[in-house]
Amino acid sequence: MRDYREVLSEVLIPEDELQNRIAELGEEISRDYAGMEKMILICILRGGVMFLTDLMRHVSVPHAIEFMAVSSYGTGNRESTGQVRITLDLNTDIFDRHVLLVEDIIDSGRTIASVLELLSARRPKSLHVCTLLDKAERREVFVPVEYVGFSIPNKFVFGYGLDLDEYYRNLPFIGVVDLEKYQAE
Ligand code: PRP
Repeated sequence: MRDYREVLSEVLIPEDELQNRIAELGEEISRDYAGMEKMILICILRGGVMFLTDLMRHVSVPHAIEFMAVSSYGTGNRESTGQVRITLDLNTDIFDRHVLLVEDIIDSGRTIASVLELLSARRPKSLHVCTLLDKAERREVFVPVEYVGFSIPNKFVFGYGLDLDEYYRNLPFIGVVDLEKYQAE
């Protein structure tokens, strides 16, 4: 795998901007959930991992964390309902708990819409969404999103949890892929 610099066209969101905004989000969430019992942050693997671990440091309300994974649908392989399948389920009962879903990016909205549907059937006390990135112009289904870090244009982004062929999730910033260089490999 090449050095990331060979496929990077620009840094869209540098590390300091990311971290400042994540701190703000954490403070906002802490205010909104103040005094609420049984809060749980649920990270959808794998892209949301970096965001979760940084965000939770700024959430002062006592909370648990959990992880789940869902099958991704390939292009042209979407079921008519757009439903995704859980491949790793929670180990915790979320009944009567305040659940906040933590995602790295919402694109078509299908993943988070399906997860919301699946989890709401378990009757949490509340169920909301926090995403670091929102590519709103790509939305295919409506999803209510309470917390958005950054609204971004329709560019192919990677880094900070988002992969490029499973690599580069460790980068501390959000970069844009140079498609010409990337496809030339
Ligand atoms: C990405 C991202 C979201 C989803 C967003 O996950 O983490 O879960 O796609 O796309 P959507 O709004 O069009 O459904 P991906 O399937 O790439 O898995 P990963 O997190 O393991 O990289």
